[in-house]
Amino acid sequence: MATTKATAMAHPEFPLDPNLVYLNHAGVGTWPQRTRDAVHRFADECLHRGAADYPNWLEAEDRLRARLARLMGVAGAVSDIALVPNTSAGLSMVAHGVTWQPGDEVIINDQEFPSNRWVWQSLARHYGVHVRQVRLSDGATPEDALIDALTPRTRLLPISSVQYGTGLRMDLERLSNACRERGVLLCVDAIQTLGALQLAVDADFIVADGHKWMLGPEGIGGLYVHPRVRDELRIWQIGWHMAEDLGAFDRPDWDPAGTGRCLEPGSPNLLGSHALEASLAVLEDVGLAEVERRVLTNAREAMEGVRRHGFELVTPTEADRHAGIVTFRVPGADPERLLAALRARDVACASRCGGIRFSAHFYNTAEDLEEAWRRLQACLAAE
Ligand SMILES: Cc1ncc(COP(=O)(O)O)c(C=O)c1O
Repeated sequence: MATTKATAMAHPEFPLDPNLVYLNHAGVGTWPQRTRDAVHRFADECLHRGAADYPNWLEAEDRLRARLARLMGVAGAVSDIALVPNTSAGLSMVAHGVTWQPGDEVIINDQEFPSNRWVWQSLARHYGVHVRQVRLSDGATPEDALIDALTPRTRLLPISSVQYGTGLRMDLERLSNACRERGVLLCVDAIQTLGALQLAVDADFIVADGHKWMLGPEGIGGLYVHPRVRDELRIWQIGWHMAEDLGAFDRPDWDPAGTGRCLEPGSPNLLGSHALEASLAVLEDVGLAEVERRVLTNAREAMEGVRRHGFELVTPTEADRHAGIVTFRVPGADPERLLAALRARDVACASRCGGIRFSAHFYNTAEDLEEAWRRLQACLAAE
């Protein structure tokens, strides 16, 4: 049903099916050619040489930590990065690692992805933590809604840097200052930022998986734990790989590593590390500032399309209030039916907040967006 895109040259790293319009990087991103090649090479190496050159694999892992640290805006803190299986696992390590006192409070909000609400709600059962949910739209600004809710009992504020549904971008500096002033821990879920926009925040915890804007595979991400809080974090996943004295299997006792590795209990996901390292190399070669500029340009272009077609924009338009996500409602259209029709026409996107979510990356073009609008209009005409 889809028409072939009569468009500009494809980016050499993204030789996508020419029929496909891919606008789902806030869901699961595409892989660059370089990532596919890295996985291919790794598989060939395993096939022909097994793990004979294991030390080289660890070098790829070190490069990945360094790249993640730069994306997280903590370039000097490479050893504070733990490689984790996904964002939810990282959030769980934090939530169930803080040493809670009964009566401690956590403030969550109504726009968070379930992984960044449920894990905090689960604390009530185990430790008597009070979890209060606020509506971001209830304050003068979303940050005011959160800051007004902080009390002397508030221990931690979890926040997504960009909300997965509305695409709302939070003022992290303001939240960080408010938390620092009150001694509240700040935990940033950065999965909708890293790989799209640059991050600069003084947070206690930053976590993100690599499968969205970072253009890597599912199943590997990074968790940054600030050294000022690492010793307070209870480590509840234990194994050979997290020991300070790595490889000293005959020692009767053990200490957790004094680095992010203390949160990596067992064998690492080296296939994932090779893949994600290659993906981040592509982003860094383009330049993180240039990636951000193009992501924002595409988002503005998508918003302009929403306006032109008379649809209802869910995502805020102010330049500092959005990132790469653009969510909109089509009056009279059922979002799930519309999504299915878009899929049938080879437009990859998502349905969120009762509408459609487009999330274009840096390599998408204005022609991609134009083609998406053409196909969306064709879906509506066929209703
Ligand atoms: C803001 C946010 N946090 C967490 C997740 C879940 O991430 P993971 O699958 O890496 O646990 C998502 C997935 O869409 C998300 O958008």
